[in-house]
Amino acid sequence: MDVLVSSAGGIATIALDRPAKKNAITAPMYQAMADALRAADAEGAVRCIVIHGTSEAFTAGNDLEDFLKHPPQDESAPVFRFMAAIAGCTKPLVAAVAGPAVGVGTTMLLHCDLVYAGDNARFALPFSQLALCPELASSLLLPMLAGHQRAAEKLMLGEPFGAEEAREMGLVNKVLPAAETIPHALAQAAKLTRLPASSLRATKRLMRSGLGAAIAQRMGEENDQFRAMLTAPEAREAFTAFLEKRKPDFSKFG
Ligand code: COA
Repeated sequence: MDVLVSSAGGIATIALDRPAKKNAITAPMYQAMADALRAADAEGAVRCIVIHGTSEAFTAGNDLEDFLKHPPQDESAPVFRFMAAIAGCTKPLVAAVAGPAVGVGTTMLLHCDLVYAGDNARFALPFSQLALCPELASSLLLPMLAGHQRAAEKLMLGEPFGAEEAREMGLVNKVLPAAETIPHALAQAAKLTRLPASSLRATKRLMRSGLGAAIAQRMGEENDQFRAMLTAPEAREAFTAFLEKRKPDFSKFG
C-alpha cells in the first residue's frame, strides 16, 4: 500500500509512501488517508495526528494519470472524502514537509495546526497551469493568510516557492534540515499528547469558530468547479502533456 498508517503513544501517523512517483496521490490513497483521518479522530487513544512523506518528497499532488482516467464523479469520490476529513478533523494535525509539496500537498497544510518544513521543501499550486481551480478552501484560506496579491501569485501564476517564503507567509512554523523534519514533527506531536486533549480540541474549535461554515461552503463551490474543469479539454491537454513530458498547448482553446 502507498499509504502507511500507524498509531503509537497517542500519535496516529499517516505516511505517504510512493517514492517512485514522488508520492503522487491516487484515489485509493485518498481513500486510505480519509479513512485513517476519520478513524484517528474517532479513536479516544489518539491525541494527535501526524502527516508526512519522506525526506525527499511530501507529495507531487493529485496523480494526474489517475485523474485523467478516473475523474472524480461526485462528492463521494475519495479525493473529496479526504478533503472533508482533513477540513473537519477535530484533533491537532501536524505535518512534516520535505521536497515537493504540489497542489493538495500545499493546500492540505492550510488545515494543519503545526507545519514543519525541510530546507528542500518546494511548494506549488499549479492549478491554472493544469486548467483547474483552487481546492480545499485554498481560495479562501490562502488570501486570508498571505493577502490577496501574494495568494494570486501562487494560485494564478502557480510559481513554486521555498520553505523560507512559506515560513515568512505563515504557512510553516519552522524550517529544518530535511532529515530532521519528520523527527521534529513527531517530537512536537509528542508534546501535544502530554497536554489535556479537551483543551486542544476546544482551542482548535475556537480558532476555527465562524470559519467552519465558510470553509465548507467554499469547498462545495470549489469542488463543483474543479469537477467540471477536470473533464474539460484544457485539463485533459494539460494532464496528457505532463504524462507525455511535453509542454501543454492551450492555443486551440478560447
Ligand atoms: N501524477 C502522476 N505522476 C507523477 C506526478 C503526478 N502528480 N508527479 C510526478 N509523477 C511521476 C512522473 O511522471 C515520474 O514518473 P516516471 O518516472 O514514470 O516518468 C515520477 O513521478 C518522478 O517524477 P519527476 O517529474 O521525474 O520528478 P522531479 O523530481 O523531476 O519533479 C515534481 C518532481 C513534483 C516537481 C514533478 O514531478 C511535477 O511537477 N509533478 C506534477 C505535479 C502536479 O502538477 N501535480 C498536480 C497538482 S493538482
